[in-house]
Amino acid sequence: MDHCSCNALKWILTPIFLLLVLMMFLLHLGEDFPVPGLLTMNNTSLAKDPGISLRQTHKPSQRSNSSLHNIKQRKREKTKSRVQRELEKARMVIQEASSNAISVNESIWLDAKEHRIDIYRNWAAFFRSYADMEKQFRVYVYEEGEPPLVHHGPCKDIYTTEGRFIAELEQMQGGFRTRDPHRAHAFFLPFSVTEMVRFLYQPLSYDHQPFQRFVADYVRVIASKHPFWNNTNGTDHFMLSCHDWGPHASRGNSQLYENSIRSLCNANISEGFHPYKDVSIPEINLKDGEMPRQLLSPAFPSRTFLAFFAGGIHGPIRQQLLQHWEGRDLTHMPVYNYLSEDLDYYSFMLRSHFCLCPSGYEVASPRIVEAIYSECIPVIISQGYVLPFSDVLRWEAFSLSVAVEDIPKLREVLEGFTAEELEKLREGIRAIKQHFVLNNPPKKFDVFHMILHSVWLRRLNVSI
Ligand SMILES: *[C@@H]1O[C@H](CO)[C@@H](O)[C@H](O)[C@H]1NC(C)=O
Ligand SMILES: *[C@@H]1O[C@H](CO)[C@@H](O)[C@H](O)[C@H]1NC(C)=O
Ligand SMILES: *[C@@H]1O[C@H](CO)[C@@H](O)[C@H](O)[C@H]1NC(C)=O
Ligand SMILES: *[C@@H]1O[C@H](CO)[C@@H](O)[C@H](O)[C@H]1NC(C)=O
Ligand SMILES: *[C@@H]1O[C@H](CO)[C@@H](O)[C@H](O)[C@H]1NC(C)=O
Ligand SMILES: *[C@@H]1O[C@H](CO)[C@@H](O)[C@H](O)[C@H]1NC(C)=O
Ligand SMILES: *[C@@H]1O[C@H](CO)[C@@H](O)[C@H](O)[C@H]1NC(C)=O
Repeated sequence: MDHCSCNALKWILTPIFLLLVLMMFLLHLGEDFPVPGLLTMNNTSLAKDPGISLRQTHKPSQRSNSSLHNIKQRKREKTKSRVQRELEKARMVIQEASSNAISVNESIWLDAKEHRIDIYRNWAAFFRSYADMEKQFRVYVYEEGEPPLVHHGPCKDIYTTEGRFIAELEQMQGGFRTRDPHRAHAFFLPFSVTEMVRFLYQPLSYDHQPFQRFVADYVRVIASKHPFWNNTNGTDHFMLSCHDWGPHASRGNSQLYENSIRSLCNANISEGFHPYKDVSIPEINLKDGEMPRQLLSPAFPSRTFLAFFAGGIHGPIRQQLLQHWEGRDLTHMPVYNYLSEDLDYYSFMLRSHFCLCPSGYEVASPRIVEAIYSECIPVIISQGYVLPFSDVLRWEAFSLSVAVEDIPKLREVLEGFTAEELEKLREGIRAIKQHFVLNNPPKKFDVFHMILHSVWLRRLNVSI
């Protein structure tokens, strides 16, 4: 739909929308009184509520401006406290589930039975909060801004997670998305840092100001047009970016940086990532919009390699890794500074027990998700990286973390695992794989839902 027709439609729809809101308000009020549906349009039932004075009015259209204003104000307070009540109740229930698995009811058991529960930090709390999220969580997506910088993002590159999340939330009719901001538990700022870098960045300038200015302008516009930002100073708002510079861009507005929930691939503690407030999301590289065929329906050959890595010398960690291991033992532990054209990257992953995932210039690496798809145990070599969904997943149940200082001992460490231990970790990978899958449209427990769930937990302000 082009911009103009979209706006014209809005003008036609606005009065209808306002009327609907008013009617919904009146119907909603009726819930509190023993009055049959139709009568709720009448003043008798309304007059019983001492908080509202409608005595001079007969029909909605005849209401004075000030009483209409009162109603709106009243509705706002009512729905606001309703959102608060919903959050408080969900918080209580999850905390209860988290401290006492016995309170977990049958439907939660059914969910849990289909999963391996030892891959979760607290499975009872997770399935409970997930179920509550599906039932109640509502997100309002701001309409301000134009593609390509807003409402749009990359879908065919290393930053795919960004474009897919924005697109999936934008396309949603109902479900988690609400058009009524007063019902929302969270507000989404649908801008794409990757697109900003593409269109606003002067190559090689290393100047972050153009996209910081864009973010600053965007927040200023939504804070001046709507009351929601100022109501909480951005605490119930969230952004999402997979780009390395997502954290830099969020500095464009200090409240966004300090208060809002930032969902980032670049979840580096040393760059201001705050695990209790921010959300770490996985980096997924879809070169042509799909997972590579070899990983989507892999044929698993026998695993003949202990560990595998191929990639450029980006950043100090990889430099150390390659310095120690490049080309040292290609038949047992192949480590390459880039793989030559005639060798297939994914078949190495499928034939290795461990896949080395050292950080590059930034902490996240699409290797982690590719390793999970190939059921190759990820070996995380990083510093200050908050792993994706580590708020609910026990990464030690399906991966291995090796300190940068232990790079020289890598082979020794990996050779120390027994066949049973390796198989147990691989079972863990099979169990968590679904949480790292992108579906179109999204499916229960997939990446899209896990991201929303992490945002939901931040809004409840509980850690499980
Ligand atoms: C409002 O009340 C009047 C009686 O005073 C009744 O005739 C009318 O049907 C009611 N309107 C609605 C919408 O219920
Ligand atoms: C609505 O209020 C008006 C003014 O107070 C009153 O005359 C009318 O009877 C009321 N309608 C009903 C259905 O009670
Ligand atoms: C209606 O009420 C609002 C808020 O009180 C006020 O700003 C506005 O000027 C009023 N409009 C009219 C036409 O009275
Ligand atoms: C069990 O929990 C689910 C998820 O919160 C809820 O929808 C369902 O109504 C509950 N069932 C019972 C019997 O309490
Ligand atoms: C929110 O606060 C900003 C800065 O203090 C102000 O410019 C803006 O008008 C406020 N927004 C609303 C809707 O009042
Ligand atoms: C938002 O921030 C301003 C300035 O720091 C402060 O005065 C105000 O009380 C804050 N509002 C809320 C709702 O926290
Ligand atoms: C994390 O951030 C710090 C500070 O900017 C940086 O020095 C470090 O290289 C980053 N870590 C990785 C693995 O990129």
